[in-house]
Amino acid sequence: MLLSLPLLALWPTLSLAVYQACPLIQAYYPPPTLVKSLDVIKAFTDKITATFDIIIRTGKHDVFGEISPNTTSFSVVMFSGANNETSDPVFFSYHYTAPGARNVSKVTGDTVFPIGTLTQLFTVYTWLAKIGDQAWDDPITKHLPELKSVPASAGEQAVAWGDVTIGALASHMAGISRSCKSANACALGKACDKQDFIKSFGSAPALFLPDTTPILSNAAFQLIAFALTSASKKPLSTTMQETLFRPLKMTQSSTLSESKLPKLFGPGLNTSAPGEPAALSVLSTTFNLALLGSSILGSTLLPAAVTRRWLHPVAATSNLRNGVGRPWEIYHAGGSAIAPVVDIFLKGGEVGAYSSYMGLSPDVGGGFAILAYDESGKAADLNVHADVIADGLGDLVVLAAKEAVGRYAGVYGASGDVVEFKAARDGPGLAVAQLVVGGKDVRGEMAKAAGMRVENLDWKVYPAMKYKGKGKGETHQFVAVVQDMSALVDAGTPTCITWMTVGANLGPGGVDRVLFELDGKGVAASVKIPARGVTLTRAK
Ligand SMILES: *[C@@H]1O[C@H](CO)[C@@H](O)[C@H](O)[C@H]1NC(C)=O
Ligand SMILES: *[C@@H]1O[C@H](CO)[C@@H](O)[C@H](O)[C@H]1NC(C)=O
Ligand SMILES: *[C@@H]1O[C@H](CO)[C@@H](O)[C@H](O)[C@H]1NC(C)=O
Ligand SMILES: *[C@@H]1O[C@H](CO)[C@@H](O)[C@H](O)[C@H]1NC(C)=O
Repeated sequence: MLLSLPLLALWPTLSLAVYQACPLIQAYYPPPTLVKSLDVIKAFTDKITATFDIIIRTGKHDVFGEISPNTTSFSVVMFSGANNETSDPVFFSYHYTAPGARNVSKVTGDTVFPIGTLTQLFTVYTWLAKIGDQAWDDPITKHLPELKSVPASAGEQAVAWGDVTIGALASHMAGISRSCKSANACALGKACDKQDFIKSFGSAPALFLPDTTPILSNAAFQLIAFALTSASKKPLSTTMQETLFRPLKMTQSSTLSESKLPKLFGPGLNTSAPGEPAALSVLSTTFNLALLGSSILGSTLLPAAVTRRWLHPVAATSNLRNGVGRPWEIYHAGGSAIAPVVDIFLKGGEVGAYSSYMGLSPDVGGGFAILAYDESGKAADLNVHADVIADGLGDLVVLAAKEAVGRYAGVYGASGDVVEFKAARDGPGLAVAQLVVGGKDVRGEMAKAAGMRVENLDWKVYPAMKYKGKGKGETHQFVAVVQDMSALVDAGTPTCITWMTVGANLGPGGVDRVLFELDGKGVAASVKIPARGVTLTRAK
Protein backbone atom coordinates (compact mmCIF):
# COMPACT_ATOMS: atom_id res chain seq x y z
CA MET A 1 0.00 0.00 0.00
CA LEU A 2 2.77 2.46 -0.72
CA LEU A 3 2.18 5.44 -2.95
CA SER A 4 2.13 4.58 -6.60
CA LEU A 5 2.61 8.25 -7.43
CA PRO A 6 5.26 8.36 -10.14
CA LEU A 7 6.79 11.57 -8.84
CA LEU A 8 6.19 14.99 -7.56
CA ALA A 9 7.50 16.97 -10.49
CA LEU A 10 8.48 19.94 -8.39
CA TRP A 11 11.23 21.26 -10.57
CA PRO A 12 12.05 20.62 -14.21
CA THR A 13 14.11 17.51 -14.68
CA LEU A 14 17.24 18.41 -16.56
CA SER A 15 19.28 16.04 -18.63
CA LEU A 16 22.30 14.61 -16.85
CA ALA A 17 24.68 16.24 -19.25
CA VAL A 18 24.06 19.74 -17.92
CA TYR A 19 24.88 21.47 -14.69
CA GLN A 20 22.39 20.92 -11.87
CA ALA A 21 22.05 22.76 -8.62
CA CYS A 22 22.59 20.49 -5.61
CA PRO A 23 20.55 21.76 -2.66
CA LEU A 24 21.00 20.43 0.87
CA ILE A 25 18.32 17.81 1.39
CA GLN A 26 15.37 18.84 3.59
CA ALA A 27 16.61 22.44 3.62
CA TYR A 28 14.69 23.76 0.62
CA TYR A 29 12.19 26.22 2.05
CA PRO A 30 10.63 26.84 5.44
CA PRO A 31 7.18 25.17 5.48
CA PRO A 32 4.38 27.33 4.03
CA THR A 33 1.65 28.87 6.16
CA LEU A 34 -1.25 26.40 6.13
CA VAL A 35 -4.17 28.44 7.38
CA LYS A 36 -7.55 27.81 5.78
CA SER A 37 -8.58 31.47 5.71
CA LEU A 38 -5.72 32.40 3.34
CA ASP A 39 -6.72 32.88 -0.32
CA VAL A 40 -3.87 30.71 -1.60
CA ILE A 41 -4.97 27.85 0.69
CA LYS A 42 -8.60 28.28 -0.42
CA ALA A 43 -7.50 28.05 -4.06
CA PHE A 44 -5.46 24.96 -3.23
CA THR A 45 -8.27 23.18 -1.39
CA ASP A 46 -10.80 24.09 -4.13
CA LYS A 47 -8.52 22.37 -6.63
CA ILE A 48 -8.27 19.19 -4.56
CA THR A 49 -12.02 19.19 -3.95
CA ALA A 50 -12.57 19.43 -7.72
CA THR A 51 -10.22 16.49 -8.28
CA PHE A 52 -12.08 14.34 -5.74
CA ASP A 53 -15.43 15.38 -7.32
CA ILE A 54 -14.15 14.13 -10.68
CA ILE A 55 -12.76 10.81 -9.48
CA ILE A 56 -16.00 10.10 -7.65
CA ARG A 57 -18.08 10.92 -10.72
CA THR A 58 -15.92 8.99 -13.18
CA GLY A 59 -14.42 6.29 -10.94
CA LYS A 60 -10.90 7.12 -12.10
CA HIS A 61 -8.08 9.60 -12.20
CA ASP A 62 -6.28 10.00 -15.53
CA VAL A 63 -2.86 9.49 -13.99
CA PHE A 64 -3.38 7.72 -10.69
CA GLY A 65 -5.89 5.02 -11.71
CA GLU A 66 -9.28 3.69 -10.68
CA ILE A 67 -11.35 3.79 -7.52
CA SER A 68 -14.69 2.14 -6.63
CA PRO A 69 -17.09 4.97 -5.80
CA ASN A 70 -20.06 2.55 -5.81
CA THR A 71 -18.75 0.76 -2.76
CA THR A 72 -15.95 2.76 -1.09
CA SER A 73 -17.02 5.36 1.46
CA PHE A 74 -14.22 7.55 2.74
CA SER A 75 -13.17 10.60 4.68
CA VAL A 76 -9.98 12.52 3.96
CA VAL A 77 -8.42 15.49 5.76
CA MET A 78 -5.29 17.55 5.42
CA PHE A 79 -3.87 19.22 8.49
CA SER A 80 -1.16 21.58 9.57
CA GLY A 81 1.43 20.92 12.21
CA ALA A 82 3.80 23.83 11.89
CA ASN A 83 1.56 26.37 13.53
CA ASN A 84 0.93 24.38 16.68
CA GLU A 85 -2.80 24.76 16.11
CA THR A 86 -3.64 21.68 18.08
CA SER A 87 -7.30 22.59 18.54
CA ASP A 88 -8.22 22.80 14.83
CA PRO A 89 -5.38 21.79 12.56
CA VAL A 90 -7.59 20.69 9.61
CA PHE A 91 -7.46 22.96 6.55
CA PHE A 92 -9.03 20.59 4.01
CA SER A 93 -11.64 17.86 4.32
CA TYR A 94 -13.68 15.76 1.94
CA HIS A 95 -16.20 13.11 2.92
CA TYR A 96 -18.01 10.67 0.67
CA THR A 97 -20.66 8.05 1.35
CA ALA A 98 -21.01 5.35 -1.31
CA PRO A 99 -24.51 4.86 -2.76
CA GLY A 100 -24.31 1.20 -1.82
CA ALA A 101 -23.62 1.96 1.85
CA ARG A 102 -25.90 -0.25 3.88
CA ASN A 103 -25.75 1.79 7.04
CA VAL A 104 -27.78 4.96 6.94
CA SER A 105 -25.22 7.27 8.50
CA LYS A 106 -23.25 9.62 6.26
CA VAL A 107 -19.48 9.70 6.50
CA THR A 108 -18.10 12.81 8.21
CA GLY A 109 -14.81 13.72 9.84
CA ASP A 110 -16.26 12.31 13.06
CA THR A 111 -17.14 8.87 11.67
CA VAL A 112 -15.35 6.12 13.58
CA PHE A 113 -13.39 3.59 11.54
CA PRO A 114 -11.08 0.76 12.63
CA ILE A 115 -7.65 1.78 11.31
CA GLY A 116 -5.92 -1.62 11.11
CA THR A 117 -2.12 -1.60 10.92
CA LEU A 118 -2.02 2.20 11.24
CA THR A 119 -2.39 1.20 14.92
CA GLN A 120 1.36 0.49 14.88
CA LEU A 121 2.02 4.22 14.74
CA PHE A 122 -0.06 4.69 17.89
CA THR A 123 1.91 1.98 19.71
CA VAL A 124 5.25 3.52 18.75
CA TYR A 125 4.09 7.06 19.57
CA THR A 126 2.90 5.82 22.98
CA TRP A 127 6.33 4.24 23.56
CA LEU A 128 8.11 7.48 22.62
CA ALA A 129 5.88 9.62 24.81
CA LYS A 130 6.09 7.23 27.75
CA ILE A 131 9.66 5.91 27.56
CA GLY A 132 11.52 7.83 24.85
CA ASP A 133 13.90 6.88 22.09
CA GLN A 134 16.93 6.23 24.30
CA ALA A 135 15.70 2.65 24.59
CA TRP A 136 15.76 1.94 20.82
CA ASP A 137 19.04 0.07 21.23
CA ASP A 138 17.87 -2.01 24.20
CA PRO A 139 17.49 -5.69 23.43
CA ILE A 140 13.87 -6.75 23.87
CA THR A 141 15.13 -9.25 26.47
CA LYS A 142 16.00 -6.35 28.77
CA HIS A 143 12.29 -5.52 28.95
CA LEU A 144 10.92 -9.05 28.51
CA PRO A 145 13.47 -11.37 30.16
CA GLU A 146 10.93 -14.21 29.78
CA LEU A 147 12.02 -14.47 26.13
CA LYS A 148 15.43 -15.73 27.24
CA SER A 149 13.99 -18.82 28.89
CA VAL A 150 11.65 -19.85 26.06
CA PRO A 151 12.58 -23.39 24.96
CA ALA A 152 14.07 -22.89 21.50
CA SER A 153 12.06 -25.55 19.73
CA ALA A 154 13.21 -24.03 16.44
CA GLY A 155 16.78 -25.03 17.32
CA GLU A 156 19.44 -23.11 15.51
CA GLN A 157 16.75 -21.37 13.44
CA ALA A 158 15.31 -19.78 16.58
CA VAL A 159 15.19 -16.00 16.92
CA ALA A 160 18.27 -14.66 18.74
CA TRP A 161 16.10 -12.52 21.02
CA GLY A 162 19.13 -10.95 22.68
CA ASP A 163 20.02 -9.36 19.30
CA VAL A 164 16.53 -8.01 18.61
CA THR A 165 16.31 -4.39 19.73
CA ILE A 166 13.19 -2.36 20.49
CA GLY A 167 14.20 -0.06 17.62
CA ALA A 168 14.36 -3.01 15.20
CA LEU A 169 10.90 -4.17 16.30
CA ALA A 170 9.53 -0.64 15.76
CA SER A 171 11.12 -0.29 12.30
CA HIS A 172 10.11 -3.60 10.70
CA MET A 173 13.74 -4.76 10.97
CA ALA A 174 13.52 -7.58 13.53
CA GLY A 175 13.53 -10.40 10.95
CA ILE A 176 10.67 -12.12 12.78
CA SER A 177 7.51 -13.62 11.31
CA ARG A 178 4.23 -11.80 10.81
CA SER A 179 2.09 -12.99 13.67
CA CYS A 180 1.70 -15.40 16.54
CA LYS A 181 0.46 -18.79 15.36
CA SER A 182 -1.18 -19.72 18.65
CA ALA A 183 -4.93 -19.41 18.11
CA ASN A 184 -5.50 -18.53 21.76
CA ALA A 185 -2.80 -15.90 22.29
CA CYS A 186 -4.35 -12.78 20.77
CA ALA A 187 -7.74 -11.59 19.53
CA LEU A 188 -8.44 -8.13 18.12
CA GLY A 189 -10.82 -7.15 20.91
CA LYS A 190 -8.99 -8.21 24.07
CA ALA A 191 -5.59 -8.07 25.72
CA CYS A 192 -3.26 -10.85 24.57
CA ASP A 193 -2.44 -13.80 26.78
CA LYS A 194 1.16 -12.78 27.36
CA GLN A 195 2.37 -16.17 28.60
CA ASP A 196 0.83 -18.02 25.71
CA PHE A 197 2.16 -15.45 23.23
CA ILE A 198 5.71 -15.57 24.55
CA LYS A 199 5.71 -19.36 24.73
CA SER A 200 4.38 -19.74 21.19
CA PHE A 201 5.93 -16.79 19.33
CA GLY A 202 9.11 -16.78 21.39
CA SER A 203 9.99 -20.25 20.14
CA ALA A 204 9.05 -19.62 16.49
CA PRO A 205 11.83 -19.67 13.87
CA ALA A 206 13.42 -16.45 12.65
CA LEU A 207 13.02 -15.40 9.01
CA PHE A 208 16.15 -13.20 8.87
CA LEU A 209 18.81 -12.09 11.28
CA PRO A 210 17.73 -8.83 12.95
CA ASP A 211 18.59 -5.64 11.02
CA THR A 212 18.92 -7.36 7.65
CA THR A 213 15.88 -6.37 5.56
CA PRO A 214 12.47 -4.83 6.32
CA ILE A 215 9.54 -7.21 6.82
CA LEU A 216 6.28 -6.09 8.36
CA SER A 217 5.39 -8.02 11.50
CA ASN A 218 2.29 -7.40 13.60
CA ALA A 219 3.83 -9.47 16.40
CA ALA A 220 6.74 -7.02 16.65
CA PHE A 221 4.38 -4.30 17.91
CA GLN A 222 2.77 -6.68 20.37
CA LEU A 223 6.21 -7.32 21.87
CA ILE A 224 6.71 -3.55 22.19
CA ALA A 225 3.32 -3.38 23.91
CA PHE A 226 4.33 -6.14 26.37
CA ALA A 227 7.55 -4.26 27.11
CA LEU A 228 5.50 -1.12 27.73
CA THR A 229 3.03 -2.98 29.95
CA SER A 230 5.77 -4.54 32.02
CA ALA A 231 7.08 -1.02 32.70
CA SER A 232 3.74 0.69 33.31
CA LYS A 233 1.85 -2.28 34.80
CA LYS A 234 -1.19 -1.10 32.85
CA PRO A 235 -2.86 -2.53 29.75
CA LEU A 236 -1.81 -0.91 26.46
CA SER A 237 -5.34 0.45 25.92
CA THR A 238 -5.12 2.37 29.22
CA THR A 239 -1.63 3.67 28.53
CA MET A 240 -2.66 4.82 25.04
CA GLN A 241 -5.72 6.51 26.50
CA GLU A 242 -3.63 8.33 29.11
CA THR A 243 -0.68 9.14 26.86
CA LEU A 244 -2.31 10.02 23.53
CA PHE A 245 -6.11 10.15 23.43
CA ARG A 246 -6.71 12.25 26.55
CA PRO A 247 -3.95 14.88 26.20
CA LEU A 248 -4.64 15.29 22.47
CA LYS A 249 -8.43 15.44 23.03
CA MET A 250 -8.95 12.53 20.64
CA THR A 251 -12.34 11.87 22.18
CA GLN A 252 -13.53 9.49 19.47
CA SER A 253 -10.47 7.25 19.50
CA SER A 254 -10.26 4.00 21.40
CA THR A 255 -9.09 0.42 21.10
CA LEU A 256 -11.39 -2.44 20.09
CA SER A 257 -12.94 -4.22 23.01
CA GLU A 258 -15.33 -7.14 23.04
CA SER A 259 -17.72 -5.56 25.47
CA LYS A 260 -18.33 -2.11 24.03
CA LEU A 261 -17.95 -1.38 20.37
CA PRO A 262 -18.67 2.23 19.33
CA LYS A 263 -20.96 2.83 16.36
CA LEU A 264 -18.80 2.02 13.37
CA PHE A 265 -19.42 2.87 9.76
CA GLY A 266 -20.44 -0.42 8.15
CA PRO A 267 -21.01 -3.83 9.65
CA GLY A 268 -18.95 -4.31 12.78
CA LEU A 269 -15.68 -6.15 13.02
CA ASN A 270 -15.38 -9.58 14.53
CA THR A 271 -13.63 -8.66 17.76
CA SER A 272 -12.83 -12.31 18.49
CA ALA A 273 -10.91 -12.75 15.23
CA PRO A 274 -7.23 -13.51 15.87
CA GLY A 275 -4.76 -10.62 15.58
CA GLU A 276 -2.30 -8.60 17.64
CA PRO A 277 -4.17 -5.65 19.21
CA ALA A 278 -1.01 -3.51 19.45
CA ALA A 279 -0.74 -3.67 15.65
CA LEU A 280 -4.39 -3.66 14.61
CA SER A 281 -6.95 -2.54 17.16
CA VAL A 282 -7.25 1.24 17.23
CA LEU A 283 -10.51 2.96 16.22
CA SER A 284 -10.38 6.59 15.18
CA THR A 285 -11.74 9.36 12.96
CA THR A 286 -10.01 11.53 10.38
CA PHE A 287 -10.46 14.59 12.61
CA ASN A 288 -8.80 12.69 15.48
CA LEU A 289 -5.96 11.52 13.21
CA ALA A 290 -5.40 15.18 12.30
CA LEU A 291 -4.92 15.96 16.00
CA LEU A 292 -2.43 13.10 16.30
CA GLY A 293 -0.48 14.06 13.16
CA SER A 294 -0.44 17.71 14.09
CA SER A 295 0.90 16.87 17.54
CA ILE A 296 3.74 14.84 16.00
CA LEU A 297 4.74 17.64 13.60
CA GLY A 298 4.41 20.28 16.33
CA SER A 299 6.23 18.18 18.97
CA THR A 300 3.52 18.77 21.53
CA LEU A 301 4.08 15.47 23.35
CA LEU A 302 7.74 14.79 22.56
CA PRO A 303 10.83 16.97 22.80
CA ALA A 304 11.52 18.50 19.37
CA ALA A 305 14.91 16.73 19.28
CA VAL A 306 13.17 13.34 19.61
CA THR A 307 10.75 14.23 16.80
CA ARG A 308 13.64 15.14 14.50
CA ARG A 309 15.36 11.83 15.20
CA TRP A 310 12.05 10.02 14.68
CA LEU A 311 11.32 11.56 11.26
CA HIS A 312 14.15 9.90 9.36
CA PRO A 313 14.42 6.59 7.54
CA VAL A 314 16.04 3.60 9.23
CA ALA A 315 16.48 1.46 6.12
CA ALA A 316 15.65 1.36 2.41
CA THR A 317 13.30 -1.08 0.69
CA SER A 318 13.70 -2.73 -2.72
CA ASN A 319 12.16 0.38 -4.22
CA LEU A 320 14.61 3.14 -3.31
CA ARG A 321 11.78 5.66 -3.35
CA ASN A 322 10.37 3.83 -0.32
CA GLY A 323 12.19 3.58 2.98
CA VAL A 324 11.13 2.40 6.41
CA GLY A 325 11.21 4.14 9.75
CA ARG A 326 9.62 3.53 13.15
CA PRO A 327 7.05 2.39 11.98
CA TRP A 328 6.93 4.70 8.96
CA GLU A 329 6.64 3.65 5.35
CA ILE A 330 8.50 6.60 3.85
CA TYR A 331 7.96 7.86 0.33
CA HIS A 332 10.80 9.93 -1.11
CA ALA A 333 8.95 12.03 -3.69
CA GLY A 334 10.96 13.85 -6.34
CA GLY A 335 11.45 14.24 -10.07
CA SER A 336 14.81 12.55 -10.60
CA ALA A 337 17.70 11.04 -8.68
CA ILE A 338 19.16 14.38 -7.59
CA ALA A 339 16.12 16.60 -7.89
CA PRO A 340 14.82 17.91 -4.60
CA VAL A 341 13.24 15.12 -2.57
CA VAL A 342 10.22 15.64 -0.36
CA ASP A 343 9.79 12.89 2.24
CA ILE A 344 6.30 11.79 3.23
CA PHE A 345 6.16 9.69 6.39
CA LEU A 346 3.31 7.30 5.71
CA LYS A 347 1.52 4.59 7.59
CA GLY A 348 -1.29 2.64 6.09
CA GLY A 349 -3.55 -0.03 7.46
CA GLU A 350 -6.27 -2.54 6.73
CA VAL A 351 -8.53 -4.63 8.88
CA GLY A 352 -11.64 -6.37 7.57
CA ALA A 353 -13.30 -4.10 4.99
CA TYR A 354 -11.66 -1.00 6.47
CA SER A 355 -8.57 0.76 5.20
CA SER A 356 -6.58 3.71 6.47
CA TYR A 357 -3.72 5.90 5.35
CA MET A 358 -1.88 8.68 7.10
CA GLY A 359 1.04 10.82 5.95
CA LEU A 360 3.21 13.56 7.43
CA SER A 361 5.43 15.88 5.45
CA PRO A 362 7.78 17.85 7.69
CA ASP A 363 8.96 19.84 4.62
CA VAL A 364 5.44 21.11 4.11
CA GLY A 365 4.63 21.26 7.82
CA GLY A 366 1.44 19.30 7.27
CA GLY A 367 -0.06 15.93 6.64
CA PHE A 368 -3.16 13.98 5.68
CA ALA A 369 -5.35 11.15 6.89
CA ILE A 370 -7.80 8.96 4.97
CA LEU A 371 -10.22 6.41 6.43
CA ALA A 372 -12.44 4.20 4.32
CA TYR A 373 -14.91 1.34 4.35
CA ASP A 374 -15.83 -0.82 1.37
CA GLU A 375 -19.21 -2.49 0.99
CA SER A 376 -17.68 -5.29 -1.05
CA GLY A 377 -16.26 -6.69 2.17
CA LYS A 378 -12.69 -6.26 0.88
CA ALA A 379 -10.69 -3.26 2.09
CA ALA A 380 -10.36 -0.53 -0.56
CA ASP A 381 -6.95 0.31 -1.99
CA LEU A 382 -6.45 3.98 -1.09
CA ASN A 383 -3.53 4.64 -3.42
CA VAL A 384 -5.48 6.91 -5.78
CA HIS A 385 -6.92 8.93 -2.89
CA ALA A 386 -3.44 9.29 -1.36
CA ASP A 387 -1.91 10.21 -4.72
CA VAL A 388 -4.40 13.06 -5.17
CA ILE A 389 -3.31 14.44 -1.80
CA ALA A 390 0.42 13.79 -2.31
CA ASP A 391 0.23 15.54 -5.67
CA GLY A 392 -1.31 18.46 -3.79
CA LEU A 393 1.69 18.49 -1.47
CA GLY A 394 3.70 19.43 -4.56
CA ASP A 395 1.50 22.54 -4.88
CA LEU A 396 2.21 23.34 -1.25
CA VAL A 397 5.95 23.21 -1.95
CA VAL A 398 5.36 25.73 -4.72
CA LEU A 399 3.50 27.90 -2.20
CA ALA A 400 6.43 27.53 0.19
CA ALA A 401 8.75 28.74 -2.57
CA LYS A 402 6.59 31.80 -3.24
CA GLU A 403 6.29 32.55 0.45
CA ALA A 404 10.08 32.31 0.85
CA VAL A 405 10.68 34.75 -2.01
CA GLY A 406 8.20 37.22 -0.52
CA ARG A 407 9.83 36.90 2.86
CA TYR A 408 13.57 36.97 2.12
CA ALA A 409 14.35 38.00 -1.47
CA GLY A 410 15.32 41.59 -2.19
CA VAL A 411 18.10 44.15 -1.93
CA TYR A 412 19.53 45.00 1.49
CA GLY A 413 21.91 47.84 2.31
CA ALA A 414 22.81 50.94 0.34
CA SER A 415 25.72 52.26 -1.67
CA GLY A 416 28.95 50.71 -0.43
CA ASP A 417 27.53 47.71 1.40
CA VAL A 418 24.83 45.85 -0.49
CA VAL A 419 23.51 42.32 -0.78
CA GLU A 420 20.84 40.98 -3.12
CA PHE A 421 18.98 37.67 -2.75
CA LYS A 422 16.93 36.37 -5.66
CA ALA A 423 14.65 33.37 -6.15
CA ALA A 424 16.82 30.53 -7.46
CA ARG A 425 15.78 29.71 -11.01
CA ASP A 426 16.90 26.06 -11.02
CA GLY A 427 15.60 24.74 -7.71
CA PRO A 428 15.13 25.67 -4.09
CA GLY A 429 17.15 28.11 -2.03
CA LEU A 430 17.96 31.77 -2.59
CA ALA A 431 20.67 32.88 -5.00
CA VAL A 432 23.17 35.46 -3.74
CA ALA A 433 23.00 37.74 -6.78
CA GLN A 434 25.40 40.37 -5.43
CA LEU A 435 27.33 41.03 -2.25
CA VAL A 436 29.57 44.03 -1.84
CA VAL A 437 31.00 44.94 1.58
CA GLY A 438 33.46 47.79 2.13
CA GLY A 439 33.80 48.21 -1.62
CA LYS A 440 34.88 44.56 -2.08
CA ASP A 441 33.02 42.14 -4.35
CA VAL A 442 32.52 39.23 -1.96
CA ARG A 443 31.20 37.00 -4.76
CA GLY A 444 34.48 37.46 -6.59
CA GLU A 445 36.44 36.65 -3.44
CA MET A 446 34.34 33.55 -2.78
CA ALA A 447 34.85 32.32 -6.36
CA LYS A 448 38.59 32.90 -6.16
CA ALA A 449 38.91 31.06 -2.82
CA ALA A 450 36.98 28.10 -4.25
CA GLY A 451 39.13 28.09 -7.38
CA MET A 452 36.51 28.99 -9.95
CA ARG A 453 35.71 31.89 -12.27
CA VAL A 454 33.11 34.25 -10.88
CA GLU A 455 30.85 33.76 -13.91
CA ASN A 456 30.73 30.07 -13.01
CA LEU A 457 29.88 30.71 -9.36
CA ASP A 458 26.53 29.32 -8.23
CA TRP A 459 26.16 30.64 -4.71
CA LYS A 460 22.95 29.89 -2.87
CA VAL A 461 21.78 29.94 0.70
CA TYR A 462 19.39 27.34 2.19
CA PRO A 463 17.11 27.68 5.26
CA ALA A 464 18.62 26.09 8.35
CA MET A 465 17.53 27.17 11.82
CA LYS A 466 15.16 29.61 13.49
CA TYR A 467 15.85 31.65 16.59
CA LYS A 468 13.55 33.79 18.70
CA GLY A 469 15.64 36.83 17.79
CA LYS A 470 16.11 40.13 19.59
CA GLY A 471 13.91 42.22 17.30
CA LYS A 472 10.18 42.14 16.61
CA GLY A 473 10.26 38.83 14.78
CA GLU A 474 12.28 35.63 14.52
CA THR A 475 15.79 35.35 13.13
CA HIS A 476 16.19 32.76 10.36
CA GLN A 477 19.61 31.35 9.58
CA PHE A 478 20.48 30.28 6.02
CA VAL A 479 23.57 28.20 5.19
CA ALA A 480 25.70 28.86 2.08
CA VAL A 481 26.41 26.32 -0.67
CA VAL A 482 28.90 27.11 -3.42
CA GLN A 483 28.95 25.20 -6.72
CA ASP A 484 31.04 25.54 -9.86
CA MET A 485 28.75 25.56 -12.89
CA SER A 486 31.64 24.58 -15.15
CA ALA A 487 32.55 21.48 -13.10
CA LEU A 488 32.65 18.23 -15.05
CA VAL A 489 29.32 16.44 -15.01
CA ASP A 490 29.59 12.73 -14.26
CA ALA A 491 28.16 10.90 -17.22
CA GLY A 492 25.38 8.60 -16.15
CA THR A 493 26.03 8.78 -12.39
CA PRO A 494 24.14 11.64 -10.83
CA THR A 495 26.35 13.27 -8.21
CA CYS A 496 25.11 15.67 -5.56
CA ILE A 497 27.61 16.04 -2.76
CA THR A 498 27.35 19.63 -1.60
CA TRP A 499 26.71 18.27 1.92
CA MET A 500 30.42 17.39 1.96
CA THR A 501 31.53 20.87 0.89
CA VAL A 502 29.57 23.20 3.19
CA GLY A 503 32.16 25.53 4.73
CA ALA A 504 35.02 24.16 2.61
CA ASN A 505 37.33 26.46 0.59
CA LEU A 506 35.77 29.63 1.88
CA GLY A 507 38.96 31.61 2.28
CA PRO A 508 39.38 34.39 4.84
CA GLY A 509 36.11 36.24 5.44
CA GLY A 510 34.23 33.59 3.49
CA VAL A 511 30.49 33.75 4.08
CA ASP A 512 29.17 30.41 5.39
CA ARG A 513 25.83 31.67 6.71
CA VAL A 514 23.53 34.68 6.80
CA LEU A 515 20.84 35.60 9.33
CA PHE A 516 17.59 37.21 8.23
CA GLU A 517 15.95 39.30 10.94
CA LEU A 518 12.18 39.35 10.47
CA ASP A 519 9.77 42.16 11.28
CA GLY A 520 6.49 41.66 13.15
CA LYS A 521 4.76 40.59 9.91
CA GLY A 522 7.25 37.82 9.18
CA VAL A 523 9.13 39.63 6.39
CA ALA A 524 12.91 40.00 6.52
CA ALA A 525 13.73 43.57 7.56
CA SER A 526 17.48 43.14 7.63
CA VAL A 527 20.16 40.59 7.04
CA LYS A 528 23.23 39.97 9.15
CA ILE A 529 26.41 38.64 7.57
CA PRO A 530 28.51 37.51 10.56
CA ALA A 531 31.64 36.71 8.52
CA ARG A 532 31.83 40.36 7.41
CA GLY A 533 30.50 41.88 10.62
CA VAL A 534 27.67 43.79 8.92
CA THR A 535 23.90 44.00 9.22
CA LEU A 536 22.18 45.46 6.16
CA THR A 537 18.65 46.86 6.21
CA ARG A 538 16.15 46.08 3.49
CA ALA A 539 16.24 48.66 0.67
CA LYS A 540 13.63 47.02 -1.59
C1 LIG B 1 -21.95 1.86 -10.23
O1 LIG B 1 -23.35 1.95 -10.11
C2 LIG B 1 -24.00 2.48 -11.24
C3 LIG B 1 -25.49 2.66 -10.92
O2 LIG B 1 -26.01 1.49 -10.35
C4 LIG B 1 -23.76 1.53 -12.43
O3 LIG B 1 -24.34 2.09 -13.60
C5 LIG B 1 -22.25 1.38 -12.65
O4 LIG B 1 -22.01 0.43 -13.66
C6 LIG B 1 -21.59 0.93 -11.38
N1 LIG B 1 -20.14 0.94 -11.58
C7 LIG B 1 -19.37 -0.10 -11.31
C8 LIG B 1 -17.91 0.08 -11.59
O5 LIG B 1 -19.78 -1.15 -10.84
C1 LIG C 1 2.45 24.32 21.37
O1 LIG C 1 1.35 24.68 22.18
C2 LIG C 1 1.41 24.12 23.46
C3 LIG C 1 0.10 24.42 24.17
O2 LIG C 1 -0.39 25.69 23.83
C4 LIG C 1 2.64 24.69 24.20
O3 LIG C 1 2.74 24.15 25.48
C5 LIG C 1 3.89 24.31 23.40
O4 LIG C 1 5.04 24.87 23.98
C6 LIG C 1 3.77 24.78 21.97
N1 LIG C 1 4.89 24.20 21.18
C7 LIG C 1 5.56 24.91 20.29
C8 LIG C 1 6.63 24.16 19.56
O5 LIG C 1 5.32 26.08 20.05
C1 LIG D 1 -24.79 -1.71 9.68
O1 LIG D 1 -25.43 -2.56 8.80
C2 LIG D 1 -25.27 -3.93 9.08
C3 LIG D 1 -25.86 -4.74 7.94
O2 LIG D 1 -27.11 -4.23 7.56
C4 LIG D 1 -25.85 -4.25 10.45
O3 LIG D 1 -25.66 -5.61 10.75
C5 LIG D 1 -25.18 -3.40 11.49
O4 LIG D 1 -25.76 -3.58 12.75
C6 LIG D 1 -25.24 -1.93 11.12
N1 LIG D 1 -24.40 -1.18 12.04
C7 LIG D 1 -24.76 -0.04 12.59
C8 LIG D 1 -23.77 0.57 13.51
O5 LIG D 1 -25.82 0.47 12.37
C1 LIG E 1 -15.21 -14.47 14.77
O1 LIG E 1 -13.91 -15.03 14.86
C2 LIG E 1 -13.87 -16.21 15.65
C3 LIG E 1 -12.41 -16.62 15.77
O2 LIG E 1 -11.81 -16.75 14.51
C4 LIG E 1 -14.71 -17.27 14.98
O3 LIG E 1 -14.70 -18.46 15.76
C5 LIG E 1 -16.13 -16.77 14.83
O4 LIG E 1 -16.89 -17.70 14.11
C6 LIG E 1 -16.15 -15.42 14.11
N1 LIG E 1 -17.48 -14.88 14.14
C7 LIG E 1 -18.10 -14.45 13.05
C8 LIG E 1 -19.45 -13.89 13.26
O5 LIG E 1 -17.58 -14.50 11.93
